[in-house]
Amino acid sequence: MSVHALQYYKNIKPHGGILINREVNDNEREKLLKRAAQLPSLTISEWTISDLELVAIGGFSPLIGFMNQSDYLSVINKMRLENGLVWSIPITLPVSFEEASLFSIGQEIALTGEDDIIYGTLKLEEKFIYDKKEEAHLVYGTTDEAHPGVKKLYEQGEMYFAGPITLLNRPNHGEFAAYYKDPVQTREMFANLGWKTIVGFQTRNPVHRAHEYIQKIAMENVDGLLLNPLVGKTKSDDIPAAIRMKSYEVLLDHYYPKDRVRLVIYPAAMRYAGPREAILHALVRKNYGCTHFIVGRDHAGVGDYYGTYEAQELISLYEREIGMTILKFEHSFYCKLCESMATAKTCPHSKEHHLHLSGSKVRALLKSGIKPPKEFSRPEVAEILIKGLSEVDNCD
Ligand code: ADX
Repeated sequence: MSVHALQYYKNIKPHGGILINREVNDNEREKLLKRAAQLPSLTISEWTISDLELVAIGGFSPLIGFMNQSDYLSVINKMRLENGLVWSIPITLPVSFEEASLFSIGQEIALTGEDDIIYGTLKLEEKFIYDKKEEAHLVYGTTDEAHPGVKKLYEQGEMYFAGPITLLNRPNHGEFAAYYKDPVQTREMFANLGWKTIVGFQTRNPVHRAHEYIQKIAMENVDGLLLNPLVGKTKSDDIPAAIRMKSYEVLLDHYYPKDRVRLVIYPAAMRYAGPREAILHALVRKNYGCTHFIVGRDHAGVGDYYGTYEAQELISLYEREIGMTILKFEHSFYCKLCESMATAKTCPHSKEHHLHLSGSKVRALLKSGIKPPKEFSRPEVAEILIKGLSEVDNCD
């Protein structure tokens, strides 16, 4: 490891001690791409491409590839890698039986996107059958196929390929490219800003007033905020990342001090695994250099699958080992009598005085071109969302 890299470990070490880098340098890339073009090729999904990228750039440190069976079983059963390190979500490469029969152990495989780009290679060390129901039950806490993470699991191939990967081409992040940074770059950025304590914020939604409230409380206590929206695959009724990104830009422009926030994309797929995904989200942000991480109400949840504070309870058990400060927030809302944002910890008034709007109600308002109350969503943000959603509708 270079002294240069060590300098960026000062605030917080990556998970497992070192930041993984499975990407080839520019000199090697050309040569390896030519070689990869001669290798047997496996077509991988958008989801797998995002996992490949996150392993390669160190977001998923200490993973160096797709999990083998012993790590996989240890993660789903014990929430730890085989070596004992905390890890909550399997990072795996699903294939069908037919695909599995085409490749042999020891082989190097080109990992090719549906766009015919070779994103990387896999050294196939293991292939194994897994139990989908068991994974659903242990990781998602449900075997209900209406759960979006479980649905995806049931739809994918029956076997997993395992082995170390090499990234040959980073995915193109298109319109988000300006907001892309890998963990080395975010660590470097924090060092240059002189930030020693950094709070990471995961989101897959436009930032509303409750998000803003908890972020700002956190900002009172740390040097800076990494607003780190997930822009990989999400379920179809979540607001598309392109619209969300515009809403973050306008929000930061109007309501946040420029020198205390950085917006960087998190190029991962959303699992909706609630408590277990909260741990993954924290570990990745640790790798990006955050010292603090926010877990609010029903973090990474969907429907009624998880209890409101289940993610906080689970992550609390691992907080010391993860080595970050987890900032846990109660359900936040606007109280008409307090005339401010609050939680049950700070507001004495009963529910009828609280402004509560469900996600579907807000979406319905936005779709009909109506701005939700300014106590719920900043008007500038609502405007972007209304415009963005009407454009999406016109394309449908
Ligand atoms: S998530 O799936 O990425 O967790 P979302 O973008 O809605 O969904 O939430 C981002 C973060 O804000 C999570 O930590 C979540 O728990 C928290 N959060 C969302 N809404 C509230 C709220 N009203 N009160 C407190 N925390 C909230």
